Amino acid sequence: MKKGNEDRNIDSILRPAKWEEYIGQIKTKENLRMIIEAAKIRNEAVDHLLFYGQAGLGKTTLATLVARETAAPLRIITGSSIEKSGDLAALLSSLEEGEVLFIDEAHRLNPAAEEVLYPAMESRKLHIVIGKGTGAHAVSIDLPPFTLIAATTRFDMLSSPLRSRFGAIFHLEFYNEDEIAEILRRSAKILGVKANEDGLSILARASRFTPRTANRLLKRARDYTVVKNLKSIDGEAAKTVLSLMEIDEIGLEPVERKLLELIAFKFGKGPVGIRTLTAASGEEQATIEEVYEPYLMKLGFLKRTPTGRVLEEAAVEHLMREKWRN
Ligand SMILES: Nc1ncnc2c1ncn2[C@@H]1O[C@H](COP(=O)(O)OP(=O)(O)O)[C@@H](O)[C@H]1O
Ligand SMILES: [Mg+2]
Repeated sequence: MKKGNEDRNIDSILRPAKWEEYIGQIKTKENLRMIIEAAKIRNEAVDHLLFYGQAGLGKTTLATLVARETAAPLRIITGSSIEKSGDLAALLSSLEEGEVLFIDEAHRLNPAAEEVLYPAMESRKLHIVIGKGTGAHAVSIDLPPFTLIAATTRFDMLSSPLRSRFGAIFHLEFYNEDEIAEILRRSAKILGVKANEDGLSILARASRFTPRTANRLLKRARDYTVVKNLKSIDGEAAKTVLSLMEIDEIGLEPVERKLLELIAFKFGKGPVGIRTLTAASGEEQATIEEVYEPYLMKLGFLKRTPTGRVLEEAAVEHLMREKWRN
């Protein structure tokens, strides 16, 4: 499930360039547009914003839309790329007036870098220490008005002092199937591939309610139509592509089905602790928690309880159906 070069490439080709093309997340969109409008009227920089939610739900896209709407330059960095607090200080002091600084994976910022951010976000000040030893003294530099937009998949890993410094916080939700189908329709047009409603809805159902995943499936389906010389992606083609990718009709990958089977049969549907599950599956705990579980919980297949993970009946039914199919 790693994001390769190719995915990053279609990401940018298919990325909505206008609010109208950004499907769903209606509350977030409404709120954001109001915040931007108000900032324009007051002639101020847009408040600092935090977007959190699963990978591929549209956080980066929102940041680009905010920058575009305010005609502001956009600078993108990731939390883990800041090694020293001085790097961040240098970056902040080079910001232009009104610029949008987007920090992706904000939960990976190191604590020293966060310390630099606090006064910058709060009062547009940069506190730096010049010199060493007894000659050292602190100076404070004024920064131009700017907007910090942070994105994270791990809201729980953000420190509360950092959280509290955002003017608005938005939780991006999974999309519904209709919204995904609409996204697919737009993407198909851009990629120049025809698809009928059947084909689109089968891809949508397997998309994990996630635009990036939907677009990735569409791309594979397009490859298939090219190789097989088909005129369009119909239901048959969509199904074949999913089975070639070993993805089932609701978008589960083999490792996820294996995980469900483990909990169902080896651990009597749970509760089973995450460490035990990690050891038994050979998967990394972070991957289980950040990639697999959110979708399994969204499906109503899995529950996190204080004593461990518990499998729901719906998961067992799905496993049975899959067994029958094969
Ligand atoms: N609301 C949306 N409407 C249409 N396409 C979207 C939407 N959200 C995301 N996408 C598509 O999914 C891809 C991944 O979105 P991105 O903003 O990179 O997600 P994130 O930053 O949350 O991982 C984008 O390239 C875009 O094509
Ligand atoms: Mg992103």
